[in-house]
Amino acid sequence: MSDAIAATWQALEALPKRTLKDLFADKARLERWSGKLDLPGGAVRFDWSKTHLDADNAAAFLKLAEATGFVQKRGAMFAGEVINVTEGRAVEHTALRGVGRETSTEEAFALHLRMKSLVEAIHAGVLGEVKHLIHIGIGGSALGPALAIDALTRDGAMAQVHVVSNIDGCALEAACKACDPATTLIAVASKTFTTTETMTNAHSALDWLEANGVADPYGRVVALTAYPDKAVEWGVDETRVLPFSESVGGRYSLWSSIGFPIALALGWEEFAQFLDGAAAMDRHFLETQGLDNLPLRAAFGDLYYSRLRGCQTRACFAYDERLRLLPSYLQQLEMESNGKRVKADGSPVDGPTAPITWGGVGTDAQHAVFQLLHQGTNLVPVDFIAAIAPGDDLDPAHHKSLLANCFAQGAALMAGKEAKDPARAYPGDRPSATILCEELNPATLGALIAFHEHRTFANAVLMEINAFDQFGVELGKEIAKAIDAGGTTFDASTEALLREAGIK
Ligand code: F6P
Repeated sequence: MSDAIAATWQALEALPKRTLKDLFADKARLERWSGKLDLPGGAVRFDWSKTHLDADNAAAFLKLAEATGFVQKRGAMFAGEVINVTEGRAVEHTALRGVGRETSTEEAFALHLRMKSLVEAIHAGVLGEVKHLIHIGIGGSALGPALAIDALTRDGAMAQVHVVSNIDGCALEAACKACDPATTLIAVASKTFTTTETMTNAHSALDWLEANGVADPYGRVVALTAYPDKAVEWGVDETRVLPFSESVGGRYSLWSSIGFPIALALGWEEFAQFLDGAAAMDRHFLETQGLDNLPLRAAFGDLYYSRLRGCQTRACFAYDERLRLLPSYLQQLEMESNGKRVKADGSPVDGPTAPITWGGVGTDAQHAVFQLLHQGTNLVPVDFIAAIAPGDDLDPAHHKSLLANCFAQGAALMAGKEAKDPARAYPGDRPSATILCEELNPATLGALIAFHEHRTFANAVLMEINAFDQFGVELGKEIAKAIDAGGTTFDASTEALLREAGIK
């Protein structure tokens, strides 16, 4: 750690920890820490006033940003420089939204045109009637499409998409049961086109088509990958292979051809709006300096709680049924990106890195896990996400009550309540942030996801780690392969389990 970085952390630790009640004595607090950003899908309010960020710790965090080279590193990402140093790659998911190095945005535009042509040809019936798409992928090749499709197709879809990720055959079997093989396409989504779960499911899906009378199963497959040659070698016709750049990380890939099922379900126009919403957030992140930069401000809050208040988790509750998959999406984004123990230069980190991301949907979570948030011994910073416009056509009382509950939780966490009976007392002073959208639509969702991508990146820069590799997932995969291959002896417990399950 450089002297300047060490000095800022020391300064941060030395600052008094003021209560939220105390902070709200400042009449200008709301205006300073809560504001609306105009975005293509409508304005979005980012209210960080109920967090413990204040002028003093924010000033120190801005010094930390300076000492860690935040502005240069942000510039390097958008310029397509090799910032994923451990894998020797640039990080160019923003180019897919038209923001980044010119050659990369041009390449991304051309690849999108190719994807658009295929989507429109399928809609026009070139592959016959297509009612269903079984989208096979895992991790970043599944979570983003699943979230966007679940959020945005509540009023109907141009094709019914079933996302299958788990190697557990129950997942694919359920999808197959819901589909008519004669009107089903299979998307094989894998950046590497080698992932065991995906390739196993893809083979079984082809078997299912063949067993159900489809004459040319490979003719029903679309491949979404950064390694098009592998897809062609596997048997997919080149015209149905949609490539994307190796500089797009798996968990950042829903904007690439991995988003094919989103475009097929929504239509190209709405997919383009999704990209535009994200691009607006890219420009905000790239062009806004200091505390007004919302993803950077959110990262300051994240680090305040993880490094200065010992919070081991952070929670996100969407008060919107359409965003019920957002917490699982954020889990991969944040924990796979920033769950690290060494810095980008290989030296040990100076403190905790990514907290455990968890969450759920309001109001359900209120009746399940909120007890711990209000009275438990863990301090958990919470994000609430909601939309002012309802997603349903029922009695407006539903939505009014949904929003009232959302805001009530933030107020209750902060205010707490005194009571004679300790079991009935609430300590209060518990932080939350609220993201309130005018409405949830493709552009807003794009902006929301891009906000979290940039927040994750800003966190990584401030902790001096590389957010873009994920070597921690490899060891388990290697051992699973060794088990499959046989011949390796493991520890006594693992050996016993393998024997009992009949694998050895
Ligand atoms: O195992 C982790 C991981 O590499 C993720 O980072 C990635 O999103 C997922 O597997 C799927 O990888 P692929 O798209 O190459 O199949």
